Amino acid sequence: MFRFCGLELPNNVFLAPMAGITTRPFRAIAFSMESGLAWTEMISAEGLVRGDRKTRAFLPSGEEGGKVAVQLFGHRPETLRDAALIAEETSASIIDINMGCPVKKIVKGGSGAALMREPAAVGRILEAACGAVKKPVTIKIRSGWDERSLNAAEITRIAAGSGVSAVTVHGRTARQGFTGKADWGVVAEVTRSSELPIVGNGDLQSPADVERALTESGCAAVMIGRAALRPWIFRDIARAGRGEEKRAFPRTEVGRLMLHHLDLNIVEFGERRGVILMRRPLAWYSRGFSGAGLFRRSINELETPEALRAAIAAFAG
Ligand SMILES: Cc1cc2nc3c(=O)[nH]c(=O)nc-3n(C[C@H](O)[C@H](O)[C@H](O)COP(=O)(O)O)c2cc1C
Repeated sequence: MFRFCGLELPNNVFLAPMAGITTRPFRAIAFSMESGLAWTEMISAEGLVRGDRKTRAFLPSGEEGGKVAVQLFGHRPETLRDAALIAEETSASIIDINMGCPVKKIVKGGSGAALMREPAAVGRILEAACGAVKKPVTIKIRSGWDERSLNAAEITRIAAGSGVSAVTVHGRTARQGFTGKADWGVVAEVTRSSELPIVGNGDLQSPADVERALTESGCAAVMIGRAALRPWIFRDIARAGRGEEKRAFPRTEVGRLMLHHLDLNIVEFGERRGVILMRRPLAWYSRGFSGAGLFRRSINELETPEALRAAIAAFAG
C-alpha cells in the first residue's frame, strides 16, 4: 500500500495525463496492468464552467474514481475554482491543475506552462481552487519555462503555501517540448526543497529506470507517459518491485488486452467510434511483434467490432 494525498493506493507508479490517450477505457487497461493511479486527459476549465457537453464527457465516473486524478487547464482563478468544484462532484479523488503543457494553443491563452512565468498568478489560482474544494489539489509542472528560468522549486513552494497536496515535476523545460532528456536533477532538487510528496516524470521506460529514478531523486512516486502506451510496463514494474522474475508479455495476452480495450471502447464511445478509436492503441500494442505492420494496415479499413475482433484473433494467434 502506498499513501498519497490521503488515498491508499496499490503502488507509487502512476499513468501520466495524455490528451487523446488516457481515456476512461485506457485508464481501465492501465489499472488492469497494476498502475497505482491514473490521470485523465487535460480538460478545459472554461469548457466545464460553460457547461459544454463534450468537455464534461472527459470527466471521470464510476468505480475507477478512487484512483483517478482529473486534470484541468485554464488560467483564471475564478474559472479554475468553479471547474474544480465541478470536478469535485465526480468520482475523481484528486483535482490536478496543468501548469506544464507547452503546446502553443494552450500557452498562448496563458494556461499550461505559461503559468510558470507568472508565479503570482499561480498563487492566486491555487488559493482559489484549494479554498473551494475539499478533495486534494495537485499540480503538474515542468522544470521551468526555459533553461534560464528553472523555477520548479519556487512554484512548488508557492503551491505548498496555497494548500496543494502534491506536485508532479516533468524534468524538461517548456521550451524543450519533448526534445533532449528529462533532467532528474531538478526532480531531486524539488524533492529536497519541499515537504510535499513529489511525483517525478520524464523518460522512464523500464523497471530499472523507475528504480533508479526513485532512489536517485528521492521522489515519492513516478509517473509514466509514453512508455505506458504499452501498458504492461506497469505489470513489469510491479513484478520487479515484488522481486519476481522478469517475464515477457506474450502475444496471446496482448491479444486479450486488445479485445478488452475494444469492449471498453464500445461501451464508452459506441460501436463505430469505439472501433475507429482502437486504431492507435492497436498500433502501440502490436509494435515489435512479427506481422505488426501488416496487422496495422489490415485494421485501418475495418469499421465493425466483428471484423476487428477477427483481425485481432488472427494477429494474436
Ligand atoms: C500525446 C501526449 C499527450 C499529453 N497530454 C498531456 C496532458 O493532457 N496533460 C499533461 O499534463 N501532460 C500531457 N502530456 C505530457 C505527459 O503527461 C508527460 O509529462 C510527458 O510525456 C513526459 O513523460 P514520459 O517521458 O514518460 O512520456 C502529454 C504527452 C503526450 C506524449
